[in-house]
Amino acid sequence: MTTAFGIDFGGTGIKGAPVDLAAGRFAAERVRIKTPEKSTPTKVADVFLELLDSFPNHDGPIGVTVPGVVRHGVVSSAANIDESWIGCDADKLFSDRLGRPVHAVNDADAAGLAEVRFGAAKGRNGLVIVTTLGTGIGSALVYDGVLLPNTELGHLEIDGHEAEARASNRAREEKELSWKEWGERLTTYYRTLEMLFSPDLFLVGGGVSKDWAEFGDLIDIETEIIPATLRNKAGVIGAALYASEQA
Ligand code: BGC
Repeated sequence: MTTAFGIDFGGTGIKGAPVDLAAGRFAAERVRIKTPEKSTPTKVADVFLELLDSFPNHDGPIGVTVPGVVRHGVVSSAANIDESWIGCDADKLFSDRLGRPVHAVNDADAAGLAEVRFGAAKGRNGLVIVTTLGTGIGSALVYDGVLLPNTELGHLEIDGHEAEARASNRAREEKELSWKEWGERLTTYYRTLEMLFSPDLFLVGGGVSKDWAEFGDLIDIETEIIPATLRNKAGVIGAALYASEQA
């Protein structure tokens, strides 16, 4: 079995598992460690090392997600993470700390790759836009299976507001929006994406996609829109896939 190791760095937990690359499944039970209070790159690197220590037999490529722009391993935005990530050469820092090559990828891009290869958008051609609704809004554009990274469509300004400040799951929780109210905001968001990109399919990920039955029908757009199926496994699987393709 060919495997790569995937690590998903999230706001509350850092999760990792070896991934069977042919099946797109965890090859062993995943381990989760709480995200450190002030999650600076060096503190997060320490957690990655601790995670990897739980899998002493794994020696394949390692991929990690970062919730920010990652260009050639270097992080250049930090909307929802500690500012010290900006300018950090994550590939170098993590590779030095873990003693083997590590490849960092934007969290939504990782989720997008995983969903298109093994999840809800498997076998779908044309333009698939994967959005993750969480603390922020992440986006991945995948055309005929090829990822166009770092699209950052959560930061689109619509009617004078940043999209993720209005329509993320955090906005829903903090503003105590009803599903209907949130559905209206999501409709505005997805209609804007529809107008700009004319995609063939939208896929909605993030933890809240488990509540799809509550809000899916409230998003009133022309394009087909479906919930993600890999849910909270998408980051780990996508990070592993990404790493295996960089080596
Ligand atoms: C960040 C993106 C990230 C998204 C989801 C946004 O605020 O800018 O890079 O993918 O949140 O975590």
